Amino acid sequence: MTEFYWGAATSAFQVEGHVSNDFTEWESLGYFRKNGFNPQYNNGCNHWVRWQEDFDLLKELNLNSYRFSIEWARIENIKNTYSETALTQYSEMIDYLISLNIEPFLTLHHFSHPQWFHSATPWHKVEAVDAFCNYAKTIIDRFGDRIKYWITFNEPLVWALAAYGAGKFPPGYKNLKLMMDAVKNMLAAHVCLYDYIKNNYQQAKIGMAKHFIIFKEGREWILLDKTLTKRIHEFFNQMILNAFSQNRLIFYLPTLLKYDSPINLNNKIDFWGINYYYKLYAQLKFNLKNPIYLFPKEPETDMGWEIYPKGLKKIIKLVASTGKEIIITENGIATNDDELRKHFIKKHLKIVKKARKKYKVRGYFYWSLLDNYEWLIGKSKRFGLIKIDYENSFNRIIKPSAFYYTKLINKYSKVKSEKKI
Ligand code: BGC
Repeated sequence: MTEFYWGAATSAFQVEGHVSNDFTEWESLGYFRKNGFNPQYNNGCNHWVRWQEDFDLLKELNLNSYRFSIEWARIENIKNTYSETALTQYSEMIDYLISLNIEPFLTLHHFSHPQWFHSATPWHKVEAVDAFCNYAKTIIDRFGDRIKYWITFNEPLVWALAAYGAGKFPPGYKNLKLMMDAVKNMLAAHVCLYDYIKNNYQQAKIGMAKHFIIFKEGREWILLDKTLTKRIHEFFNQMILNAFSQNRLIFYLPTLLKYDSPINLNNKIDFWGINYYYKLYAQLKFNLKNPIYLFPKEPETDMGWEIYPKGLKKIIKLVASTGKEIIITENGIATNDDELRKHFIKKHLKIVKKARKKYKVRGYFYWSLLDNYEWLIGKSKRFGLIKIDYENSFNRIIKPSAFYYTKLINKYSKVKSEKKI
């Protein structure tokens, strides 16, 4: 059995192209522009057409695993009608990965939805749970014989903050109570799928990819900044982890949010996926409606994020306290400076190498395999190991940092992890 998963990650909508979903609808209706954004999808990276070539590149880079997602809108574009053509292509994609000896890690929900979803069964309503589970069960029935690692949701809290808190993603609500209801329903859907997968495929491992950020107080000498930072950490990094062991989704932040709702999660998760990128500072503003100011002190990447590899160590330690296995499901940098990308990878892999000796860390996935469509921004932020030449038929060019990643993988493959998978 493979001892450690070295991979790269993508999400369906960010790379595939040739699909209409809630994001393309918002783009065409001009909703992003109303909020000051102008992402242009233009068929992502054309991966829906060039997937075979992309998987050959994974192999060329010696990666033994690949994290990807399935585009719900492509399968169930009309409610309760499933596209056989799309299912067949995904099936061929999975078969091809396996034929290359690349372990597929399949994410069931990564931010995007069919256009009917938000008006018919939005996430803040309990009907969403069935709508999503019915769809996801079709995927599980179809691919469960070949998928060992399932990620039910990618960053439910991040999605809910963008879609229900800030109103920047479809469906564009700005209501914190509805946001928490949406998170709760996503967690309920996770449980429904956990049970379904375990009942049908006992060997499968089921996790969730959660985003973690290191928060530091903006002004060390101000006690209120410290208190605020602690609460933000509890909300963003710990609330969902705690809900799995306490069977309650709880959060209270004076003037903003008071939420306490029971939910039967019963620790139903086999591994936690860590998506980790950066550190932020938190400062209290004297504005009752919007009292939090979050900012990087030293923005270094094209996303304006502060690189902080030590933060990964802290997050691994935090997640390890759940006792579950850990997979770094996303870690990467948007930059045109490939030397900076090498530096980023090197620093984070050093942390992973050490953490493997102490904790149940089972894999690392660089985000992303390809330069791709970034949700609110479009194509200008280049996270990829592989460059996409958008001017020339989406041609693929491997970046030197990708070969450097391969070199480090070869070096670190010899490290023994704490326990065997
Ligand atoms: C998301 C990705 C996104 C990446 C960089 C993560 O939060 O899962 O879809 O592209 O961050 O912003």
